[in-house]
Amino acid sequence: MATVSVEDRGFQFGDGVYELIRTYNGTAFHLQEHIRRLYKSLKQIQIPLTTTPDQLERIVQSGIKRSQYAETKIYIQVTRGAAPRLHSFPKWVFPTLVMTFRELDKISPKTVQKGVAIISVDDIRWGWCNVKSLNLLPNLLAREQAIRSNAFEAIFVRDRFAWEGAGSNLFAVFGKKVVTPPVGHYLLSGITREVVIKIGKQIGLKMSEAKISLDALYQADEIFLTGTTVEVIPVIRLNQKTIGAGKPGAITSLLYKSLQNEISS
Ligand code: PDD
Repeated sequence: MATVSVEDRGFQFGDGVYELIRTYNGTAFHLQEHIRRLYKSLKQIQIPLTTTPDQLERIVQSGIKRSQYAETKIYIQVTRGAAPRLHSFPKWVFPTLVMTFRELDKISPKTVQKGVAIISVDDIRWGWCNVKSLNLLPNLLAREQAIRSNAFEAIFVRDRFAWEGAGSNLFAVFGKKVVTPPVGHYLLSGITREVVIKIGKQIGLKMSEAKISLDALYQADEIFLTGTTVEVIPVIRLNQKTIGAGKPGAITSLLYKSLQNEISS
């Protein structure tokens, strides 16, 4: 069994970043984009990983083959390394790289057909939410609050604006316009988010990036979430209030189907 030192700064401080990648028919979904985002996160917190993106890609590919699951979820975690516990960066340390390959539990089709409920929570995260950091405490607390409220996901609200979910990106439909909050410091630029924006444009939808206030979100005709594990999932309730017609909307369903087509093509 692989082990990590108790001195590892990931364990001591959450001093690291990660990625979650999934496969479809045994092929990693947008692997290069995930790897690119990992190196971006590493750069932002100044972890000098010597493994190259190409090497990382090859390790992921061979891990998928070796694990032989129907579908695999791959976590790549990189920390600053193991060193005596001091806040300052250690001089002589090698980053710790851990990858896990596990069988993927697919989201149930029933959940996608029915849609899900979400709640809003105060965004108590730090100011660099674009970095996929290991420090997930606010996300965990938010998700737990959602589960205890019989909701699927919690949406972070900062300065009256809704930014993203605890583990997903947020989209809302107003009439024929599909809106998602703009990338910046307050959300993670999701790989699925990017793919859905691209697909939406290709099929002629009006896709735009703009801030969405919580008040406006209640008035949306449709809401949906995107993410590696949730794909495109319709939202039918926000803080117990019905959204749109209270069932998955037409544009959400169209984007869900278009994403499935892109995956199988
Ligand atoms: N998280 N926003 C946050 C805060 C996330 O944690 C995630 C994904 C996303 C969606 O990003 P992507 O489409 O690249 O998966 C947005 C994964 C599921 C996780 O942490 O396990």
